[in-house]
Amino acid sequence: MSVNMKGKSLISINDLSLDEINSIFDLSADLKKKLKNGVPHKYLEGQTLGMIFSKPSTRTRVSFETGIYQLGGIGMYFGPTDLQLKKSENISDTAKVLSRYLNGIMIRTFDHQDVIDLARYGSIPVINGLTDLLHPCQVLADLFTILEKKGKLKGLKLAYIGDGNNMAHSLLNGCSKVGMHISIASPKGYRPNEEIVNNALRNAKVMNSKIEILDNPEKAVKNADVIYTDVWASMGQESEAKERRKIFAPYQVNEKLVKHAKEDYLFLHCLPAHRGEEVVNEVIDSPNSVVFDEAENRLHVQKAIMVLLMQK
Ligand code: CP
Ligand code: NVA
Repeated sequence: MSVNMKGKSLISINDLSLDEINSIFDLSADLKKKLKNGVPHKYLEGQTLGMIFSKPSTRTRVSFETGIYQLGGIGMYFGPTDLQLKKSENISDTAKVLSRYLNGIMIRTFDHQDVIDLARYGSIPVINGLTDLLHPCQVLADLFTILEKKGKLKGLKLAYIGDGNNMAHSLLNGCSKVGMHISIASPKGYRPNEEIVNNALRNAKVMNSKIEILDNPEKAVKNADVIYTDVWASMGQESEAKERRKIFAPYQVNEKLVKHAKEDYLFLHCLPAHRGEEVVNEVIDSPNSVVFDEAENRLHVQKAIMVLLMQK
């Protein structure tokens, strides 16, 4: 391993250097191969990962818990009502106490600041398992999947169609760091956070790549190597779902839209997918779709992240 990430937290891809991102990918590939070939890799023997979930999860929970187990450690799940956190104990006391018991914390919550505070006041690595602002583990798995399928990242074009949400933000961070072009098409009022876009523009300048924020999905998809979409109403926005279905209808990824991409485009979606809304069956079930390889890669990439951050 060429970089030393021991003891660090992973809150945003933007905090990672290109070398660190590449080390995560190298180790992910190695761990994936070891798992498939039955080669032991208990690099975190006896370690405990606390997993705090204020929102539901299928992939994040199961891949982290299975991952830490395969590495020789144990995962400890805390659901929305399990800890004293927020009800009768603040983040800073919680962070200090948990740091005395655990070797790492993975947290999925609403307010991004809570993840920053957990890392600031605690003394063990904190891994962001999704906030309203970012979803870095997902995008590292997404980029690893694209790298596996296309053999490179730099110079490829990713089109993200839909809500300027946590996925759009982490894709802006991730693609701009690795030199991929990214075109985002969102309706007005649902565009990504301006600060994140401006930061991605700065990264893209260094990497000589292009960032476009558009409202026309066909223009965004033109000649794309990768098409990405996500739900129109994220967790916590359920009351807006009906209104959003109307606003986002022209942003559906369907057979007509994907015709504008390269013929060998990849379709990615973080899942869960709302089939018939942001994507139709004909696209998500097509040979271009790699959504289940992408979901599997959450396991391998997060194992690499845990090893790099939590190794003694
Ligand atoms: N993509 C993802 O994070 O899925 P879950 O919400 O099921 O964890
Ligand atoms: N934008 C979605 C991503 C789910 C993995 C949400 O936050 O609900």
